Amino acid sequence: MKRCNSLPCLKEAGKRSKNEVELIKEELHIPSSMIDFGKNKKYYIRTYGCQANERDSETIAGILAELKYERTDNHNDADIIILNTCAIRQNAEDKVFGEIGSLKALKKNNPNLIIAVCGCMVQQEKSVEIILKTYPQIDVIFGTHNIQRLPSLIEQCLRNKAKIIEVFSKEGEVIENLPIQRESNLKAWVNIMYGCDKFCTYCIVPYTRGKERSRLMEDILEEVKELKEKGYKEVTLLGQNVNAYGKNLDKGYDFADLLEEVAKIGIERVRFTTSHPWNFTDRMIDIIAKYDNLMPFIHLPLQSGDDNMLRKMNRRYNSEEYRRLHDKIRSTIPGVAVSTDIIVGFPNETEEEFQHTLDMVDYCKYDSAFTFIFSPREGTPAARMIDETPMNVKMERFNRLLEKVATYSRMRNEAYIGKTVKVLVEGVSKKNDDILSGYSESQKLVNFKGNKDNIGKIVDVKITDITSWTLLGEEVNG
Ligand code: 5AD
Ligand code: SF4
Repeated sequence: MKRCNSLPCLKEAGKRSKNEVELIKEELHIPSSMIDFGKNKKYYIRTYGCQANERDSETIAGILAELKYERTDNHNDADIIILNTCAIRQNAEDKVFGEIGSLKALKKNNPNLIIAVCGCMVQQEKSVEIILKTYPQIDVIFGTHNIQRLPSLIEQCLRNKAKIIEVFSKEGEVIENLPIQRESNLKAWVNIMYGCDKFCTYCIVPYTRGKERSRLMEDILEEVKELKEKGYKEVTLLGQNVNAYGKNLDKGYDFADLLEEVAKIGIERVRFTTSHPWNFTDRMIDIIAKYDNLMPFIHLPLQSGDDNMLRKMNRRYNSEEYRRLHDKIRSTIPGVAVSTDIIVGFPNETEEEFQHTLDMVDYCKYDSAFTFIFSPREGTPAARMIDETPMNVKMERFNRLLEKVATYSRMRNEAYIGKTVKVLVEGVSKKNDDILSGYSESQKLVNFKGNKDNIGKIVDVKITDITSWTLLGEEVNG
């Protein structure tokens, strides 16, 4: 089969210039042969990885809806399948390769089926090489900077009967007004910035997602107002590192200003993710404490509690600074919950260094923590470090950490017993039709007995019991 190529290059993607970010506000370009192309056809999207990918999939769904495709949740019924992939760790990529392999049979049964792979994984030359060598069933590969080009890429694929690869490795722009089909009519993701310039030494994101670039505050506020008018109850402001918001714009506003303006719109719940412990200002904390609709939940990725490890990771803070920030957050924001991310087994981490991470977990007593074993990402500095620590040692440390994390999560949950919390009711629980489920203000998953008529509303729930990961209760006046 022929190929039309624009291949990724991680080295190119890691460059940063001082060039101004381009703001694009044009209509989506749809080639004439693609107008109505999706009529009586269906699309299936599978999303891996973080909220940025979830949000991108909503744009891809919006673009396919413009072409008149309808959604299906069964890939056997689909005329086009999109896999929106993640590259953060090797196991994320392995899952995608497994899924791609299983699609071979579908393509055999239906040669008109179009299969496309997009997202962070295909920003890496190695992954694209593997797909091209091993998986002939893939028709289109497009990158994180190429989403708006999807109608043209499908058109080229059909017209040229060729495999199409279009992955740009560039710093990126800000594109407004792309169509969107949101997953939920209660909770919405709102991008506030794209990319990352922090270059933590283990992380592939600055290469796959380009440079830090913010949307204009007026565009974000407009989007939140519209969501409120449509009846949305919650927005989550999204960025790889939200406290860098505004830095590239030179408009004199920052993330604290944005938070305050979003809060004033009056939508019931405002959340944000992810905030780096570096540059997390006191003003941000004060504003979160000041507004009732800014939810008391902070994800504060630690990665390591050891100063030497933090330096090697290029995290820009030390354990003492982290501890101080944590204390300020807990003492200023009433009822706040704090979660974190921790990496075990960064190259040559010693037992003593790992112990400092455990000490920090003992100190912060996190409400929850995502724990990972270091996964070398080709193209990052940490992947070039020679690592002497055997995997069984890393596993043993990882298990010790998991145990500690579960203990504190349970302890924090126990403190809720007997209290009443506000829950945004999302629906019936996955496991039991008689139980409703939703999240508290502090982002605890709450399963409770209540009135199904209140799905979509915020209700009071009295907490009667807990598990390590959830609160259990009964609706007050339910
Ligand atoms: N190996 C393991 N964990 C990683 N993370 C990012 N890159 C890697 C890697 N190479 C983790 C960090 C980050 C979270 C999203 O994923 O903890 O905060
Ligand atoms: Fe990766 Fe660090 Fe950027 Fe987070 S802040 S996306 S861990 S480089």
